[in-house]
Amino acid sequence: MSEKKLNLEAAIKDRQAKVAILGLGYVGLPLALAFAEKGFVCYGIDPDRRRIRDLNSGKSYIADLEASRIKASIKSGRLIATDNFTRLSRAHAVLVCVPTPLGKSKDPDFSFVLDAADSIAPRLKRGQLIIIESTIYPGMTVELIGPRLEEQTGLKPGRDFHLAMSPERIDPGNRKFTLQNTPKVVGGINPSSTRLAALLYRQILDQVVPVSSPTVAEMTKLLENTFRQINIGLVNEIAIICDKLKINALEVIDAASTKPFGFMTFYPGPGTGGHCIPVDPIYLSWKMKSLNYRARFIELATEVNAQMPEFWVNKAQSALDRRGKGLCNARVLVLGVSYKKDIADLRESPALEILKLLLDKGARVQYHDPFIPAVKLDHRELKSVKLTPARVANSDCVVIATDHSSLDYKMIKACAQLLVDTRGVYHRLKL
Ligand SMILES: NC(=O)c1ccc[n+]([C@@H]2O[C@H](COP(=O)([O-])OP(=O)(O)OC[C@H]3O[C@@H](n4cnc5c(N)ncnc54)[C@H](O)[C@@H]3O)[C@@H](O)[C@H]2O)c1
Repeated sequence: MSEKKLNLEAAIKDRQAKVAILGLGYVGLPLALAFAEKGFVCYGIDPDRRRIRDLNSGKSYIADLEASRIKASIKSGRLIATDNFTRLSRAHAVLVCVPTPLGKSKDPDFSFVLDAADSIAPRLKRGQLIIIESTIYPGMTVELIGPRLEEQTGLKPGRDFHLAMSPERIDPGNRKFTLQNTPKVVGGINPSSTRLAALLYRQILDQVVPVSSPTVAEMTKLLENTFRQINIGLVNEIAIICDKLKINALEVIDAASTKPFGFMTFYPGPGTGGHCIPVDPIYLSWKMKSLNYRARFIELATEVNAQMPEFWVNKAQSALDRRGKGLCNARVLVLGVSYKKDIADLRESPALEILKLLLDKGARVQYHDPFIPAVKLDHRELKSVKLTPARVANSDCVVIATDHSSLDYKMIKACAQLLVDTRGVYHRLKL
């Protein structure tokens, strides 16, 4: 990007603006493709050389993202996948899509976001637009990222460069709501940052929702995912309560769902997983601790959801006990280990906890997952086995941990000696 003053607005409108995406994962790669497909030159920058190699040879490493889209964008020269961070200096807009996981102590680890800021700083130019898409705590763009960039460059956010926050809402595997038709919330540190960021997104998606600040945008994302974590926690507790009352929780939920107002349906399961739902609320409660406030709903929902794997393993154990078999040495087949159906993402998957608990109790565990060929658990490694009627029939217990669409649930039911259905598949399919 040249130092001479660029009319960013015009460059965005006529698609001459170059976009750089930092982090080509579940969030960054679809975004990079969207820009390339709409005619922008997009630098996709990621330190993971294997990912860059895969992209440049037209391979997709995200299950629901077709390789043909990657091939076409690379071939057209509009997507430039690279691990060369100096390319950042050629971009008019830089979008940060790096991970925001929890560390070992279960506190937020925002080192990836800070590393990304530190890689932008030496290449930051006047007039550039920087947008944070990663999920971060409320206040981080204004309190930490802006000042960090200013400290290293002497350039002032809002005056010398534009800075905005726009949380990603993508739901991998969701065919109805995609990047294109999911409204995008955008909050800049001043009106021109909001306006330019909103203009950029309007080039690739249907609806943009401007808000008054980056902190409002950050908090919006955390409200959405905290809402899910808490409602899933509530319905999981209802499942435990119904179990004690010896009634079917799913029947209760379906009956409650017939109310045409004031009720929203959530289903119980093995707990929450993925990079968002169990993680994001902790970014909020962590920030609240620094303001001397305990986010009690978040703590409680996190606790209830985290105990669900144990609830289901205990169900399996007592059912086996009733058959005079016991869990120790029982052959247990776990079906589905990714954190939700039809994707290959294992992060924070509650199925991993189910596998660990079963192994710790001495069960002889096998698993099948069409998306996950192998799983590492502490010092152990399991490989996905083939799902056959004989294997199902030879298992003392089959646990459905994740309800992938491609499994033959009729066959499983017909062959299994004992089924523990943590996802309510049989209720839903009316089998
Ligand atoms: N996965 C989702 O469904 C989802 C949905 C909405 C929001 N988010 C949020 O989006 C962010 C990214 O999540 P994700 O699931 O795409 O993560 P991911 O792990 O799939 O991808 C992140 C990528 O960033 C790369 N990376 C790491 N450090 C980097 C750096 N300093 N510079 C450039 N690249 C770097 C990694 O190599 C990786 O390829 C997180 O904050 C997450 O909470 C995720």
